[in-house]
Amino acid sequence: MPDPEAAPDAPSDLLEKVVGLCKRRGFIFQSAEIYGGFRSTYDYGPLGVNLLRNVKNAWWEAMVQRRDDVVGLDAAILSPPAVWEASGHLSNFTDPLVDCRNCHQRWREDKIDGVCPNCGSTEFTEARAFNLMFKTHAGPIENEGAVAYLRPETAQGMFINFANVLQTTRKKPPFGIAQVGKSFRNEITPQNFIFRTREFEQMEMEYFVPPADAQTWFEYWLEQRYRWYIDLGIPESELRLRHHHGDELAHYSAATADVEFLFPWGWDELEGIANRTDFDLVAHATASGERLEYFDQASGERYVPHVIEPAAGASRTMMAFLMSAYHEDEIDGESRTVLRLDPTLAPYQVAVLPLSKKETLEPLARQVLTSLQPHFMCDYDVTQSIGKRYRRQDEVGTPWCVTVDFDSLEDQAVTIRDRDTTEQVRVPIGELVADLGHRMHRV
Ligand code: GAP
Repeated sequence: MPDPEAAPDAPSDLLEKVVGLCKRRGFIFQSAEIYGGFRSTYDYGPLGVNLLRNVKNAWWEAMVQRRDDVVGLDAAILSPPAVWEASGHLSNFTDPLVDCRNCHQRWREDKIDGVCPNCGSTEFTEARAFNLMFKTHAGPIENEGAVAYLRPETAQGMFINFANVLQTTRKKPPFGIAQVGKSFRNEITPQNFIFRTREFEQMEMEYFVPPADAQTWFEYWLEQRYRWYIDLGIPESELRLRHHHGDELAHYSAATADVEFLFPWGWDELEGIANRTDFDLVAHATASGERLEYFDQASGERYVPHVIEPAAGASRTMMAFLMSAYHEDEIDGESRTVLRLDPTLAPYQVAVLPLSKKETLEPLARQVLTSLQPHFMCDYDVTQSIGKRYRRQDEVGTPWCVTVDFDSLEDQAVTIRDRDTTEQVRVPIGELVADLGHRMHRV
C-alpha cells in the first residue's frame, strides 16, 4: 500500500478537462440547462449512462453475483419519519451551518477553516445544526401526518428488511444485503462537479456478523473494497485507506475507514467502510417492537448481529474512474486524448467503423455490428476520416475499433484496433466475438 502522506501532484487543470470532455461528448449535462441550469444537479447523457451503469454492474458483480453470502434489495426511496427517528437521522444527520457576517454566504463550518472562501472574512454567525434530509408530503394534504423523507442513504432499507430477508432466504450470519440506488441530501455546499451533489447514487452493503467476529470482518471488507478499485484500473498511487479519528465517527459507528482517491483538489472520500455494531438493528427493534435478531436453531443461540458496511458513491466513483483514466499522449506525432478505462467500464466496448461511406461496405459493416451487439455495447460511426473516428473513440475510452474495409468483402476479415497500443490485427469475422471476448476478459 502506498505511503498515505505521499500525495503526488495531480495536474491542476485535470478537473476542467474532464468536465469539458463530459459535456462535449455527452457523458454529463447540467440538469435543466435550457432553463439556466439547476445547481448541483446533473443529467447523465448517452455515454455517461453507460459508464455509470457499468460501474454499478461491476460493483453488483463483485458484491452479489460472485458471492453466495450476499443478496440484493431495492427498497423504496420515500419513507416515513419513524424510520429516520429510529435511525438517528432526524436528530443527528446535520451539518454545522454558519453565515459569513460580511458577504452573507452560507458555509459548512467544518469545511472552511474559519475563513470565508468567498470574501476572506473571519466573522461568522454561531453555528446551527442543519438537517440534510429532504422532507416532502405523501398524499394531497400537506400536514404533519403526511410528512415523508427522501432517503439520505440506502442503508436503512436493509435494516428495516432484515427480518424479511432472513426469513425468505434462510441466510445465517455472516451474510450481507446489498443495494444500489439514489439517495438525497440537502448539501449546504455541493461542489466539484458530481463529487458532492444533492441527488446521487450509492452502492451499499450491510454485512451481518456474529458480534465477536466484527473486527475480523471489518478488516476483510477494507481489503476487499480497496482491491476492487485497483482491479478496475485505478493505480495504487492514487488510492489510500484512511482510518477515522474518534471525533470524526458518525453517530452509529465504532470504527470507520475511507477509501480515498487523489482528486485534483487532494485526497477525498470514495467509500466509507464502517463497523456499525448493533446500533441500527437495536434501534429499529426498539422503535418498531419487532424482533430483529438471529436465532440459531442448531445451537439455540440468539443474538443481534453486528454490521460491517462498505458504503460507496456510484456517481463519485464514476468521477474517480474518469479522472484516473484521462490521459493525453502522442500517436505518430499527433496528440490525442484517451480515456484508458477498464473495458468492463467503458461506455462502448467496441466501435464498428466502415472504412468508407460507400454503400458497398454498409451491409457487411451492419452485419458485423449485429453479430457483436448481443455481446458488447457497440457504437457505429461512418462520419469523417478513419483517423478522426479512432481519435473520437479514444477520447471516450472505447477499447476496440473494428474496421470493415474493401478487403473485408473479399476475405471476410476485419481489423481490430487497440485503444491503448493502437496496434491493429486482422481477424476473420467468424472469430470476432470470441476474439473480443477473450480480450475483454484478459485485460
Ligand atoms: N450508509 C452510510 C453512508 O451513507 P456516507 O459516507 O455518508 O455513508 C457513503 O456515504 C458514500 O456515498 C460516500 O463515500 C460517497 O461516495 C457517497 N456520497 C455521500 N454523499 C454524497 C453526495 N452528496 N454526493 C455524491 N456522493 C455522495
